[in-house]
Amino acid sequence: MEFSFNVNEVFKSPIVEITPNLIPPGYTGDRRALWDTVSKVGEVVNQMGSASAAAQGLTKAITTADRIRNSEHKLYFLIDKNANSGKGAVTGMLKTGNKSLYVFDRDGNHYQVQPPCLLDFYIHETKQRNGLGKVLFEHMLQKEGIAPVQMAIDRPSEKLLGFLNKHYSLKDPVKQMNNYVVFDDFFPKRSLPAPHEPQTQSEGIRSKIQQNPNSANGLQPVPSPMGRYGAPRPPCSMGQIIHNQSPNEQRQETTGRIASQ
Ligand code: ACO
Repeated sequence: MEFSFNVNEVFKSPIVEITPNLIPPGYTGDRRALWDTVSKVGEVVNQMGSASAAAQGLTKAITTADRIRNSEHKLYFLIDKNANSGKGAVTGMLKTGNKSLYVFDRDGNHYQVQPPCLLDFYIHETKQRNGLGKVLFEHMLQKEGIAPVQMAIDRPSEKLLGFLNKHYSLKDPVKQMNNYVVFDDFFPKRSLPAPHEPQTQSEGIRSKIQQNPNSANGLQPVPSPMGRYGAPRPPCSMGQIIHNQSPNEQRQETTGRIASQ
């Protein structure tokens, strides 16, 4: 996307990170020039936000300068230095932030988490499917020190799901009621003990829950209750609704947990 001003004078590197104060990295100048620069960054945010919304079929932009100012979100812009006769152009935008979410795994177990989220992602129409999305996404992963599976994705488009499948082998998203999507390794792995192994009740509970070292965000599964609270419970109807299962698609285990067959 081209602008009337010289993009290269505002954004000095091929990928820039914008924080809520809208001051571009490496800015040097006096207060008057700062106001002008911040208003240019605001214009880029608003125009890229609108283009992203249009590309996703949204009626309203989810990324605007006002919203960024009042958030703790991070924005990354991808810059093409050579475009627009050397004035530069902005070719991509990616927004992240941590959100407080309730997420359900496929078995209906729920977790309250604050994972890093992918909130908005857009590559200009003329540049899509050229690997630029991967460049921007990889930069974000490296800056934030996370793996894609650790993220919750807000309302992913089909294009984004294709992107995540192609580059990161992430498939079969676990769709949430809040329109976010996560993938199976987001959750800690649970495994059942071998049937012949004698175990005390507490050993049994411990062995059913094994932390997957790759599971996101140090998610801690809630251990099964003991005593009368450990009695079998009916299938979790919320889990069934979320994952579009009929009641006979699930079996009940003695711990009260529900496992898909
Ligand atoms: N149709 C289907 N899949 C697509 C398309 C498309 N038009 N464009 C990209 N993809 C997927 C495919 O898997 C593609 O691989 P392929 O060409 O071999 O089929 C892969 O992405 C290409 O990878 P990159 O070139 O690295 O990605 P790109 O630069 O195109 O950026 C992005 C991906 C950001 C999804 C871009 O296509 C885009 O801006 N789309 C429109 C806006 C959008 O849908 N954004 C995501 C909204 S959801 C959210 O932001 C949380």
